[in-house]
Amino acid sequence: MIEAFVFDMDGVITDTVEYHCRSWQVITDREGWEFDSTINKKLLGLTRVDSLKQIMAHNNLRLSKEEMAAICKEKNDNFVKTIAAMSEADLLPGIKELLVALKNRGYKLSVASASKNAPLVLNSIGIDGLFDNISDGSHVKQGKPAPDIFLHAANQLGVRPENCVVFEDAVAGVEAARAAGMRVVGIGDLGVLKHADCVYASPKDVDIDEMLSKFDI
Ligand code: BG6
Ligand code: MG
Repeated sequence: MIEAFVFDMDGVITDTVEYHCRSWQVITDREGWEFDSTINKKLLGLTRVDSLKQIMAHNNLRLSKEEMAAICKEKNDNFVKTIAAMSEADLLPGIKELLVALKNRGYKLSVASASKNAPLVLNSIGIDGLFDNISDGSHVKQGKPAPDIFLHAANQLGVRPENCVVFEDAVAGVEAARAAGMRVVGIGDLGVLKHADCVYASPKDVDIDEMLSKFDI
């Protein structure tokens, strides 16, 4: 029995992928490190520090803990500046309608985002009030693909993991949801999100009845 829907934020609720990309690029350009949209795709769903580790591995870099902390802080300062300018216009097409429709059907709704900025972002785009719970990166030690953030969300909702459906746009997120024992709806490319139960290109394409029919309920 499906009781709750758990939403990743970046790339599912709001299109922040480009903002994260630019926040890294200011630093990588200055430092002369290679960084492009292909590397950025590998960062989807990863925590700040795990993202930096990917950039370091790609560039064969070794940085001290202190240097890594300074870079992460700078990346976040860059990103936080973009949040102040965010509004309802940053919602992905169809996501608000989907959330309202699920809520009207009586399902519990949660966010489970790697981003420690999730509460701030959701407030800026004006939809934080729709959720029964917001789990963010500050609530767990291990980021996606570990299942921790999704298990935290289920626990906060008081719903068993097998009764939750996750919406995810990142491979690491689909893996995390699977590891948590949840069903997964992918948002994006079917070829990339092949371990999801079903995939829609965008939230606006989600047909709730068709989606529910995939879960044998
Ligand atoms: C995730 C994004 O939601 O949040 C990642 O997909 C990002 O790209 C991560 O690195 C961490 O976000 P923040 O804002 O806490 O650094
Ligand atoms: Mg995402």
